[in-house]
Amino acid sequence: MTTRIPAELIERLRAAQRVTALTGAGVSAESGVPTFRDAQTGLWAQFRPEELATPQAFAANPRRVWGWYAWRRELVRKARPNPGHKALAELETHLTARGRAFTLITQNVDGLHQQAGSRKVIELHGNLQRTKCSQCEEIIAQWEESETPPPRCPLCGGLLRPDVVWFGEALPAAALQAATTAAQHCDLMLVVGTSAVVQPAASLPLLAVEAGATLVEINPQDTPLTPWVDYALRGTAATLLPSLIATIQPLNR
Ligand code: APR
Repeated sequence: MTTRIPAELIERLRAAQRVTALTGAGVSAESGVPTFRDAQTGLWAQFRPEELATPQAFAANPRRVWGWYAWRRELVRKARPNPGHKALAELETHLTARGRAFTLITQNVDGLHQQAGSRKVIELHGNLQRTKCSQCEEIIAQWEESETPPPRCPLCGGLLRPDVVWFGEALPAAALQAATTAAQHCDLMLVVGTSAVVQPAASLPLLAVEAGATLVEINPQDTPLTPWVDYALRGTAATLLPSLIATIQPLNR
């Protein structure tokens, strides 16, 4: 089921001077990367992300958490950007070529937006392709594999971990500040593929509403954000984003 795009929304997108997009795991679903609320598969089916993506889980069983991220890194390595990622990259090109602003804020850690060609990407929750030391916090690009993973930091000997934000951890301050500014200063926000339940990302669309922005949700399902949106487009990112972006390109404004 895919929603028709209202003419009024097309006009608002054509007129928008500062567009911000906030994406979640749903935008990568059609690239084969499971969302957080999808049931986990295989070896990891017995765990919920909330039980693995935490400092406590890492402290209690670093080998298991490292193994889960190694599995996810492999999933992401095989994944390719889908038409939804590409449509957002095209929207950025279209708007910036016309002197208008576009900022992409993502909760995803898979790097697929950048692979699709998006240039201005704010990664609120880090990137699982980056590894850091859990002690000295340095980003580590190469390390000796260990008989008993996780590998150790070559600088201080601490255990290595993915450079992602775990439940209970603070978001990177610069990223959160940039995302907050982009939400408060946009005149239209696209919210794509997020369950809108994890803070502080879930508050960003409300900042946009407070600033008078038009709020558009692209998701097959309703979310807690739905009552606040101006347009709830029910369908998938890989279908709806290309359709939406195509509506503003013919005029080549
Ligand atoms: N297109 C668009 N949306 C989709 C699609 C799709 N093909 N498939 C699923 N969705 C929607 C689901 O309906 C759901 O609302 O994407 C959303 C995915 O929600 P989550 O799995 O909760 O992912 P997300 O919102 O990104 O989670 C936020 O929570 O687990 C933490 O840090 C993690 O960044 C993550 C954060």
